[in-house]
Amino acid sequence: MAGYTPELKGLIKKVEETRPARVERKKRGEELPMLSLREREERLKYHPDYKGESRREIRVGPNKGYAIPHEIVDILEARSRVDPDEIDLSAIDHETDVLIIGGGGAGTAAALLAQEQGVKVIIATKLRHGDANTMMAEGGIQAATKGDKDSPYYHYLDVMGGGHFKNTPELVRTLVIEAPKVIAWLESMGMMYDKTEDGTMRTLHGGGTCRQRMHCAADITGAEIMRTLRDEARNRIEDIKVLEFSAAVELILNEHGHCAGAVFYNMETEEYFNVRAKAIIMATGGSGRLHYQGYMTTNHYGATADGLVIGYRAGVELCFLHTYQYHPTGIVYPEQAEGLLITEKFRGAGANVLNVDGEQFVNEREPRDVESATVIRECTDVGKGVPTPTGKLGVWLDSPMIDMLRGEGTVQKEFPGKHILFRRYGIDISKEPMLVYPTLHYQNGGLEFNPEGETVIPGLIVAGEVTGGIHGENRLMGNSLLGVCVFGRIAGRTAAAYAKERAKEGRLSLEHVKKYHGELEESGIVTDRVAPMLLPDYGNPEVRERQLTAHYVGTIR
Ligand code: FUM
Repeated sequence: MAGYTPELKGLIKKVEETRPARVERKKRGEELPMLSLREREERLKYHPDYKGESRREIRVGPNKGYAIPHEIVDILEARSRVDPDEIDLSAIDHETDVLIIGGGGAGTAAALLAQEQGVKVIIATKLRHGDANTMMAEGGIQAATKGDKDSPYYHYLDVMGGGHFKNTPELVRTLVIEAPKVIAWLESMGMMYDKTEDGTMRTLHGGGTCRQRMHCAADITGAEIMRTLRDEARNRIEDIKVLEFSAAVELILNEHGHCAGAVFYNMETEEYFNVRAKAIIMATGGSGRLHYQGYMTTNHYGATADGLVIGYRAGVELCFLHTYQYHPTGIVYPEQAEGLLITEKFRGAGANVLNVDGEQFVNEREPRDVESATVIRECTDVGKGVPTPTGKLGVWLDSPMIDMLRGEGTVQKEFPGKHILFRRYGIDISKEPMLVYPTLHYQNGGLEFNPEGETVIPGLIVAGEVTGGIHGENRLMGNSLLGVCVFGRIAGRTAAAYAKERAKEGRLSLEHVKKYHGELEESGIVTDRVAPMLLPDYGNPEVRERQLTAHYVGTIR
């Protein structure tokens, strides 16, 4: 592809004109002032979460009356993919001690810890092992490993502040205390962190952190973590069995109301099958592919909220689902890469965010929600967005500044993932800026759980992005990879301990699904929609209209 169009090249000239003065200001340590608390509140009105009409109250289930995005309500107010009377639960296709639903970072970390307790483990995953948001994560993983300057105490305060002090304190406490152990654990399995010449781990700032505690592997930290975890799981193949292309469509409970397995759909043969287990870990990840409000997303193809749906039907409460994270910098051009994450590390390394006139309009280290809201405001009310060839709007992220500040070759060396990606489209991001816009990134909320990973259903343990409470109403960079590992490990240990104490007990049942269907009917909800959706239905024109970002209201056509 031939790179930027002549029109965009013309607009880039304005960025080039203001660049030398901006670089000089950066060198002198001069920054745009951060917004005051009142200004931040004003800005947040532009954040998609703050649009009242984007939510409605759910009419069924344990959170009846809770107002959450329409897209989530739609799938929670849907029927099961299976007729519970048609599923023969006496036919068990696989049996194990611990069943893990989801083969991303949390599920795989859980598998390793469970296996170490001497139990048999099955990971069942909808796509391939490792197809998950963990793989897509870029910037880093936070942990207070530098004892002389940092401590879990400061980390705790940052996480709570980032989450608007709404986070569940006990979960945050566990997160920050376990964090240094996770960094060492990953390294012991071969994770390759960025290090300085003397072998010390490099640590950087992220938005909202008071200390440099972001550990990373270039701009592909998540991929490196997933590689490490998956390699280790594959090395233990005798005890950790992996079922790929196996999507969970319902949990199975036993007659005592304990979780005892799941019904799966084989994505290749299109057949249903049953797995029985003594303990079940739900680690199905997030929901960016629901494209809330039509937004583009950083999420992997399978991020369709499956675990929320089946966990909720079984009786687990949801929390913090009224907030989602829109990352300030997703690719808006070229469209083939639309929505993909441009890590916050670019801003940390010195790249300015600029409007169509090449002007800086926001300090790049504002919290994510404020930064995104300010970009949306600049493109809408202020009217200074950069138009793309198909009529969307974006702002510039001036990556060439990084080489000017830190030496030629820095962008290529420290951001190889994005350097290579853009080069495929004829754009050299060490010489030309990137065009970006906020992109749906992270499900702040999810299934309610405690620091041991337990839910209200005995035998159902949860970990990773499907859970809610750790991050309150806004997550800081680097705490999702951390949460995945910390609570994945805990889930593995908890599930193994639970499984060891139990014999195979009780008659299996899908009564809860029948009950949920009954509740839908009693609430007057007549629908032919089924959930979990498993994959985004981009082939359906009606769905495409809502879900594909050529239409998204976010960047007004
Ligand atoms: O900007 C980033 O690299 C994102 C990291 C995160 O969401 O944790």
